[in-house]
Amino acid sequence: MMFSIPKDMKFFRETTTGYTVVMGGNTLRSFPGGKPLKNRVNIVLSRGQVRDDCVIVRSYGELFDELKKRKEEDVFVIGGGEVYRELLPYCHGALVTKVDAVGGATVFFPNLDEHADFVCVDEGQPIEDNGYIIRFTRYQNNAVKEL
Ligand SMILES: NC(=O)c1ccc[n+]([C@@H]2O[C@H](COP(=O)([O-])OP(=O)(O)OC[C@H]3O[C@@H](n4cnc5c(N)ncnc54)[C@H](OP(=O)(O)O)[C@@H]3O)[C@@H](O)[C@H]2O)c1
Repeated sequence: MMFSIPKDMKFFRETTTGYTVVMGGNTLRSFPGGKPLKNRVNIVLSRGQVRDDCVIVRSYGELFDELKKRKEEDVFVIGGGEVYRELLPYCHGALVTKVDAVGGATVFFPNLDEHADFVCVDEGQPIEDNGYIIRFTRYQNNAVKEL
């Protein structure tokens, strides 16, 4: 049996490998086995989790101190909904994979087409991906907030 890695997951892995990913505690818990992503520095916002396989930060202030040590282009915010909402103003851009699907999602990424500061600068052609039509898009933040 052939198993093909979904194109959006491949893109995500290739884009973030070797860099720093920032996420909320719920996103870490949602990963297989609750384990951090391999070959990346995982910074996790959490009030309660104690672990030594990722960098845990207890507040946005603590997170910003960590991020100031790194180059901005080396850091990717990877969710989830709560953390996206808080950190979007500080992001220089957003790589959004749009999936043409009706699902039962309970957590959402903000709609950047309705965002005052973000503008779409690249919109790929629709492509087939494991039975879904997806489209890679890139947005630029024209009003980036300083950390
Ligand atoms: N499709 C996508 O691109 C994508 C990407 C990522 C995630 N997701 C989905 O999104 C869902 C998770 O999103 P979510 O909005 O529920 O949660 P989230 O943003 O991943 O994390 C929220 C958690 O972050 C921590 N946190 C929040 N504010 C904090 C603060 N000021 N100081 C310290 N810690 C703080 C807390 O963790 P503790 O509870 O540990 O204290 C809180 O419960 C999952 O279902 C996941 O599968 C989807």
